[in-house]
Amino acid sequence: MRVLPIAGSPRTGGNSQRLLEAAVEGAREAGAEVLDALRPADLRLAPCRGCDRCQRDGVCVLHDDGPAALLRLSAADAILLAAPIYFSGLPSQLKALVDRTQVLWWRGELLRRAGTPPARPRRGYLLLCAGTHRARVFDGARETARACLYALDGRLRGELLVPDVDESGAILRRPEALAQARALGRAAALDPALP
Ligand SMILES: Cc1cc2nc3c(=O)[nH]c(=O)nc-3n(C[C@H](O)[C@H](O)[C@H](O)COP(=O)(O)O)c2cc1C
Repeated sequence: MRVLPIAGSPRTGGNSQRLLEAAVEGAREAGAEVLDALRPADLRLAPCRGCDRCQRDGVCVLHDDGPAALLRLSAADAILLAAPIYFSGLPSQLKALVDRTQVLWWRGELLRRAGTPPARPRRGYLLLCAGTHRARVFDGARETARACLYALDGRLRGELLVPDVDESGAILRRPEALAQARALGRAAALDPALP
């Protein structure tokens, strides 16, 4: 069981990163192999241009850190995706990576059309934090993450949504949330195989 952590915030050591670290601890405790974390903010990732070239042959025209990042996503059995809410959605660095998974969706679709059986299903676990507790504050990011997992032949299997943490380190005053993150990491490692 290979677990890939994705640190979706550009703020190093911030709230979502601490949630992610707790989840990683839980996954390791449960025996998972934890891969090196992917930090979209540290990558050179051009936004998807919607050129539709990947619809033809499953190849992306962009030559930056995207293809290597997508390979790392593809190598994981489970993904722990941690991010803050930015304007009711995901931070743009992470959203750029999400949009670039379009090529994976098309690659899968082209294989399906050719009759190739689907890849082994991947599991996704979401850890989100937000500065407020506004109604539906997590809805946009959650739907984006769900759609992205779909492109990866994955399904959202668990989530932790933590409202009311704003300044960096505020999550340290929420030990229950950190404990829940650890439990989610354990669950990710022990989740039975998807049908
Ligand atoms: C550009 C930006 C946009 C934000 N938008 C929202 C928002 O729409 N709703 C909200 O509740 N918090 C919002 N926040 C607050 C962050 O979600 C909050 O500070 C979070 O704890 C940051 O997590 P991090 O430390 O992992 O980066 C925003 C913060 C920034 C910097």
